[in-house]
Amino acid sequence: MAKKIETIGVLTSGGDAPGMNAAIRAVVRKGLSHGLKVKGIQQGYKGLLNEEIIDFDARSVSDTISKGGTILYTARCSEFRTPQGQDLGAQICRKHGIDGLVVVGGDGSFAGAQQLAARGINTIGIPGTIDLDIACTDYTIGFDTAVNTAMDAIDKVRDTSTSHERCSIIEVMGRNAGYIALWCGIANGAEDILLPERYDYDEQVLINNIIQNRKRGKKHHIIINAEGIGHSTSMARRIEAATGVETRATILGHMQRGGSPTCRDRVYGSVMGAYAADLLAEGQSNRVVAFRDGKYVDLDIDEALAMQKDLPEYVVRVAKAMSL
Ligand code: ADP
Ligand code: F6P
Repeated sequence: MAKKIETIGVLTSGGDAPGMNAAIRAVVRKGLSHGLKVKGIQQGYKGLLNEEIIDFDARSVSDTISKGGTILYTARCSEFRTPQGQDLGAQICRKHGIDGLVVVGGDGSFAGAQQLAARGINTIGIPGTIDLDIACTDYTIGFDTAVNTAMDAIDKVRDTSTSHERCSIIEVMGRNAGYIALWCGIANGAEDILLPERYDYDEQVLINNIIQNRKRGKKHHIIINAEGIGHSTSMARRIEAATGVETRATILGHMQRGGSPTCRDRVYGSVMGAYAADLLAEGQSNRVVAFRDGKYVDLDIDEALAMQKDLPEYVVRVAKAMSL
């Protein structure tokens, strides 16, 4: 029989993502509407182990939906990767009367939630990462804001790159995944897009492309490089030496994670947050909320973590075809 839930907690973990506040707000308000008490745990699992736990009411989350970052702060916590850390986390939840916990983060954060579920704390994961690299879901909160931020920044680099008739290598985030690079590559009309899932480290291909494009009269050459490949600065030096075309590297970095969330991230955050609170109110545990094939669904965390995904091949081919 499902455990009776009275108090739920919510935390954000791993890299922050725009839209996490919408998710927190929805967990709080939907949780309260179910008659549950709601607590916020600051700084992810690190804050759980340090008992940084606050009470939430409906007003605690006023004026947060448009804010970037996470009002609960976030952290990475190596102690929580250990069985001792996980035992302590479950014990602290019990001490504070937290019988259910919503974890907003990526796969690593879900692995932590899985461990708490195994220790009797009902847990629900919500996919929150700009990287879009969670296999069980077609969408992760933060991606849309991040790609729009990166796209605007790349447009600006492109202006100066064209004025100087340069080659620009622009590195975008995404850890080992190429989703941000692929989307920006298409949206910014890049000449080359380097994706960790596809790149073969053959720089001669890039060099040949730059030389050919110059002959065709192109004034700039934009290369979007994914963080998972990296080394943009040394790549720029080698390319300039081989082509004679002035080449600059720009690493966009953490600005991609900031800013007010787009409409899409506010809505996905709100719906996924509310869905997670509903699952906890029903007594469910060890589930991840996902968006799949046009629908909000939930899956077992073990099943979700075992899934794999790849970049959509047709979109990769379109991106290549556009760079003629
Ligand atoms: P993300 O959640 O975005 O994938 P991380 O991989 O950095 O980000 O994980 C965030 C946090 O989740 C880690 O700092 C750690 O506290 C916890 N975590 C990650 N992996 C595990 C694991 N295998 N077991 C328990 N906790 C984990
Ligand atoms: O997972 C989100 C992300 O921004 C990745 O794209 C990037 O690899 C990583 O986090 C950077 O982490 P940190 O903020 O610790 O530098």
